[in-house]
Amino acid sequence: MSEWIEIATADECPPGTSIERVAGDRMIALANVDGRWHAIDGLCPHQGGPLGTGRLCGTVLTCPWHGWQFDVVTGRHTISPTTRQTVHEVREEGGRVYVRLAGGYAAAGMEQPG
Ligand code: FES
Repeated sequence: MSEWIEIATADECPPGTSIERVAGDRMIALANVDGRWHAIDGLCPHQGGPLGTGRLCGTVLTCPWHGWQFDVVTGRHTISPTTRQTVHEVREEGGRVYVRLAGGYAAAGMEQPG
């Protein structure tokens, strides 16, 4: 089981925005959807764009490089059913945001079994 890793303060990512962070060996796209936190692998599987710096609209995060879109709740690409980012657990405590990496420190972008 992975440990919780502090990746941001809550005020660094206001509602309706996303940010890019590093946790362990992963790039993380941290999103605040109306006060609910979500985290997915932050390297875009297209060409490695920084998803966390993209535009968040509702639960859809758009890669800033070529526009691929992912749902930050499910990690799924909005069009391709086989393209999916790993989703990580997130919690906020005392104004600090923590992530627990799914599958430990595996390679970014790998879909989790089950
Ligand atoms: S690198 Fe993300 S859409 Fe191309």
